Amino acid sequence: MLNDSFRYVNDQLACDGVPLCNIIAAHGTPTYVYSANRITQNAQRLQRAFSSLRATLHYSLKANNNLAIIRLLADLGLGMDAVSAGEIYRAEQAGVDPSHIVFAGVGKTRDELQYALQAGVGWFNVESHGELLLLNQLAGDLQKRPSVALRLNPDVQAKTHHHIATGHFGAKFGMSADTIAHILAHRDETPHLTIHGLHVHIGSQLGDVDETIEAVRRAQHLAEPYPDIRTLNIGGGFPVRYVESDEYPQPENFAEALAPVLKGWQVMMEPGRSIVADAGVLLISVLYIKDQAGQHFAITDGSMTELIRPALYEAVHPILPLKNAPPTQKMIIVGPVCESTDVLNRGTMLPVLETGDQLAVMGTGAYGMVMASNYNMRTRPAEILVEGEQWRVVRRRETWDDLLRQELSESTYGKI
Ligand code: LLP
Repeated sequence: MLNDSFRYVNDQLACDGVPLCNIIAAHGTPTYVYSANRITQNAQRLQRAFSSLRATLHYSLKANNNLAIIRLLADLGLGMDAVSAGEIYRAEQAGVDPSHIVFAGVGKTRDELQYALQAGVGWFNVESHGELLLLNQLAGDLQKRPSVALRLNPDVQAKTHHHIATGHFGAKFGMSADTIAHILAHRDETPHLTIHGLHVHIGSQLGDVDETIEAVRRAQHLAEPYPDIRTLNIGGGFPVRYVESDEYPQPENFAEALAPVLKGWQVMMEPGRSIVADAGVLLISVLYIKDQAGQHFAITDGSMTELIRPALYEAVHPILPLKNAPPTQKMIIVGPVCESTDVLNRGTMLPVLETGDQLAVMGTGAYGMVMASNYNMRTRPAEILVEGEQWRVVRRRETWDDLLRQELSESTYGKI
């Protein structure tokens, strides 16, 4: 997963020319490193690809919500897609105008809806009839009139891992066409809402454009009788090539296929992975080498608590040595966590490794740090942003005290 930003320079893996071993010398491992250049290029590529559709991009904060990355993308003109009030708050802290935020999510609480209404969030993607009625009531109480897109579950089977497919009836997301048709026919029941859009998102890491087109057509069919509903949020899901052999449609392929279908529509999108995944690496160090039953294990200081994707989705992330050398043996890369699933790569060709060698887990800018945990009392890693030839810490490594803080505050007994 090498690209313009992550490549070998004088046999040292570098991020935009900065040798990653220099970052390790200053900040240790495990550490996430992101390339501001690559993030910018990826966002601009999407903006270009969808420019003929005049689509508005809302970056999906769940992929990577570091404040520095939010600021970078907001400066490029992207809005944000939030799935909790916490994400809205975070985006606000990064300086994002709430009117540029879409609020999605299948289980928004009353408090979250209230918070978002008061903040002046731009759009609400509503996922159930109950949520719609609650939002209407709260909007009335607060004398607001938010814009609403109804999320359709189009019942199409996206070509992707079953854990990240969302547009079929086995999934909890969205509403059936019948429910949406009913809501649209009774818009007078929700006088405090302006329902003037539909939303579809059929999954992440989509292997094909066809199902997206089908989902869009199903949404358009529902909106046909209502000329004031001509906004369609097509979600995210643009795939990333994690390994060389991956064959996926490019954003341009999606744009080309969607352009004739979406003519005359106001288009919104919520890409996450395609903007940040290949702009990040997780740097780790080898602790021990262990040979067992003919298998070679490298036990590293990186684990499923920094990157859970291999354990959770059997995701494959290439692992490269920071110092370039010919790959000569098949290694299983694991972490120190007390779980058999704590594997970062189930078998990858690497040079002969020894204690202290440094490795990069590639393509970990999306759904890496945001899914990190403190299991086994592990502190979450530092995050570094490389900007041109400079780098800075955009989140410091956690300390043991950070992990104890919430428990050490005074507690009082509740009353019966
Ligand atoms: N919009 C909605 C409504 C979503 O549910 C998602 C992702 C996105 C946009 C952004 O999708 P993207 O462009 O990033 O594919 N943790 C999993 C991915 C979960 C995606 C959840 N929803 C993983 O590591 O693969």
